[in-house]
Amino acid sequence: MLRVENLTKVYRTRKREIHAVNGISFDVKEGEIVGILGPNGAGKTTTIKSILGLLIPDDGKIYINGRKVGVFDRWIYKLIAAVLEGSRNIYWRLTVKENLEFFAGLQGLSPREVKDQIEYLLDKFGLLSRIDSQVRTLSRGMKQKVAVASAFIRRTPILFLDEPTLGMDVQSSIELRKTLKELTANDGRTMLLSSHDMKVVEEVCERVIILKNGKIIANGKIEKLKALFKTSAYEVSYEGEIPDELKKKLEENFLNVHFGNMRFNVELKDDSRIYDLMELLKMYNVRIKSIKSVEPDFERVYIELVKGSGEK
Ligand SMILES: Nc1ncnc2c1ncn2[C@@H]1O[C@H](COP(=O)(O)OP(=O)(O)OP(=O)(O)O)[C@@H](O)[C@H]1O
Ligand SMILES: [Mg+2]
Repeated sequence: MLRVENLTKVYRTRKREIHAVNGISFDVKEGEIVGILGPNGAGKTTTIKSILGLLIPDDGKIYINGRKVGVFDRWIYKLIAAVLEGSRNIYWRLTVKENLEFFAGLQGLSPREVKDQIEYLLDKFGLLSRIDSQVRTLSRGMKQKVAVASAFIRRTPILFLDEPTLGMDVQSSIELRKTLKELTANDGRTMLLSSHDMKVVEEVCERVIILKNGKIIANGKIEKLKALFKTSAYEVSYEGEIPDELKKKLEENFLNVHFGNMRFNVELKDDSRIYDLMELLKMYNVRIKSIKSVEPDFERVYIELVKGSGEK
């Protein structure tokens, strides 16, 4: 469906050259929902804009459905709807409804054809009561929701969302990820989504590509990436109390110790440290009920991957 080959982009300003993307390659299959992650400046937006033909890459090729993308090619827009970061994706002087009708129109869909769909989407985004408001009168988060809805209404086979939850409050962000999940589940649409919100990525995407300094440092299913770190996190349940002295020792000797009610979580640098942990617990006669290996949350996995990838 989508193929990126050796994509390279250097921005040249008067003072210096910025190597934003350094020869990355990846594929996205039809129906796949892929997250693009990475620290600020990693090259996510540059990659997305290059695929859309909005930037002139220095090297590399991009294919959509086997067809090579050229700069400012117009045929791409029949296939891809995009919400780009930090730009005006919608018309501020038009109402919410007019925007949705306009974007549906780009795809050759008449207002009558999309009437129900518009109401369905606005209901999902909690914006039905603002359907006739001019977009400029909406809050930032609401504008962002209208932009995402405008991308969805086009029913293109491919959708790009660059930081869809930008500017949204916690509640809206939770709702958006629920909505994204509902809208994309089994609908066959291919989606590329960038976000700094790990919860959005974890809930919506099947696979992630992590960029750092313009290079891919990880590319795989979320479950697989989690499994890389799986063995080192444990939850220990016990009976009775743990003396403060032991708590202190645990914190000194192991990583990320968190105490709960008759249990604690701990991470080990490597698996063999489990014996040291057992020994320490035995020394204090802790009555262990169970020790189980737990999945680290995706945010931690992400941080470890980015931290551990060598270069700065
Ligand atoms: N128009 C431009 N001119 C010069 N440099 C640019 C331009 N756009 C981006 N860059 C630089 O390219 C690098 C990658 O930027 P990009 O916007 O792709 O990162 P990003 O991963 O989307 O980051 P963020 O998480 O902050 O959105 C950065 O160092 C940035 O400063
Ligand atoms: Mg960006």
